[in-house]
Amino acid sequence: MFTTDVLIIGSGIAGLSLAMKVADFSRVTVVTKKARVDTATNLAQGGIAAVLSDSDSLDSHVRDTLRSGDGLCDERIVRMVVEEGPERVLELMEMGVRFQAGSDGKGLDLGMEGGHSCRRVAHSLDLTGREIERALIEQVEKHGSIEVLEDHLAIDLLVQSKVGAGDKGEERCLGAYVLNRTTGGVEVRQAKVTVLCTGGCGKVYLYTTNPDIATGDGVAMAFRAGARVANLEFVQFHPTCFYNPLAKNFLISEAVRGEGGELVNEQGVAFMQKYDSRGDLATRDAVARGIDAEMKESGADCVYLDLTHRQADFIRDRFPTIYSTCKRYGVDITREPIPVVPAAHYMCGGVQVDEWGQTSIKSLFSLGETASTGLHGANRLASNSLLEAVVFAHRAGIWLKKNWPDISRLPYQEIRGWRVGQARSIEENVLISHNWDQIRRLMWNYVGIVRREKRLQLVRRRIQPIFQEIREHFHDFLLTPDLVELRNIAVVAELIIRSAEYRKESRGLHYMVDYPTHDDARFKRDTVFTRDEQWEKM
Ligand code: SIN
Repeated sequence: MFTTDVLIIGSGIAGLSLAMKVADFSRVTVVTKKARVDTATNLAQGGIAAVLSDSDSLDSHVRDTLRSGDGLCDERIVRMVVEEGPERVLELMEMGVRFQAGSDGKGLDLGMEGGHSCRRVAHSLDLTGREIERALIEQVEKHGSIEVLEDHLAIDLLVQSKVGAGDKGEERCLGAYVLNRTTGGVEVRQAKVTVLCTGGCGKVYLYTTNPDIATGDGVAMAFRAGARVANLEFVQFHPTCFYNPLAKNFLISEAVRGEGGELVNEQGVAFMQKYDSRGDLATRDAVARGIDAEMKESGADCVYLDLTHRQADFIRDRFPTIYSTCKRYGVDITREPIPVVPAAHYMCGGVQVDEWGQTSIKSLFSLGETASTGLHGANRLASNSLLEAVVFAHRAGIWLKKNWPDISRLPYQEIRGWRVGQARSIEENVLISHNWDQIRRLMWNYVGIVRREKRLQLVRRRIQPIFQEIREHFHDFLLTPDLVELRNIAVVAELIIRSAEYRKESRGLHYMVDYPTHDDARFKRDTVFTRDEQWEKM
């Protein structure tokens, strides 16, 4: 058994920011299932939204966030995040993040994105996430006392009632069982506080902008442990993923539309005004639906994003990664429109937390995309995610520091090891990949941008036997990372389907053909699930 004070699961912006906040008064261990840079943060292109210029205002950022969230944001949280945002951006800069400076050398060059009523996105050209991750990793390494364990995949949380330890009276998280991918062994990693920062769940869908690590691990583990999870029907589809069979998951940043990029169909005709008066800079839910409708009407495999009216030098300077990546796949974006399709991008719901990042289980926190804070409501405003991650990491740090005298006195407990039982090794990895593929296809085809009640019922019936098989046989096999992730995407897929079935209205990202309008009386509230009898064995 290994012990630490704060066990952080995930090494993106949320996890590393928190590590820096608490490392001066506690022992910190960050576990990450691949290399430390294999995070969704690292792929973020757009930037971080905050009120950073005199021509902007907190009220305006609050208004835009609420409008995008379509009636489901927690206004108190929105105001809090927006107000604390500018200070957190400055702090990132103090830590060495290099945001693009304004052309006059003063202030920052602020980008425009859909749903924002003015320029407010601090960016590092089209590699903002990578720049933030670089600076944070540098800080963490410089700090010296933060332990970062790569190739360590968390399997399940250790919760008091399950691991057969100590006082059963109060449910508390005691750490996690972690699969060491190098040795193949399962480690008991006990901690006084555990923090889920595992990113999102894009891999539940066939097409996604997310990295391979995005298998909903945090939500699945928290749910199995008995925590409250919320709003999982609100899966954000990014309107513009590069359409090319060889370029895996490559995002074309919303900032391209912010700089004048126009969505056109195969005939070169702009179409977004037909679907929304805000045109190409409508919020993401509206743009993704517009593209979906256009593709269905024409039968085309993709639409196009045209930036060719801007100067070639400007395009190459502002979007160097997008330019060079598209070029590598034969598309010169200074001369021709970019083929794009929507793809699963961001989980607006997650593990429900309070304003300090605490979940419904004591000593368990959740931050970043894994958390449902109340900021995003039914549709996240572009570039509000990095903002949410740093604000909540800071707040969790404050809470932990204040309460550390009590937390530090919590005793470590006797905890039973992972039960291997009669488990045997899986010879047929094809069984895992087959189930994985089926789930992702079914979710893409039946629980996508536009939903229907009948199709949701149908998918539940089709996917149920797969879930059942995974649940029944999980403990029959020796653990592999693929098996752990398969189990997690199955849990999250089931939660998304159930949440979508429950919400019999259309709101934000959840569009139901059978219920095309809001039903405020019944559904202007979060969709919250906790594990029940039926789910006991998940
Ligand atoms: C983008 O650059 O379009 C992605 C930014 C985000 O998801 O907020």
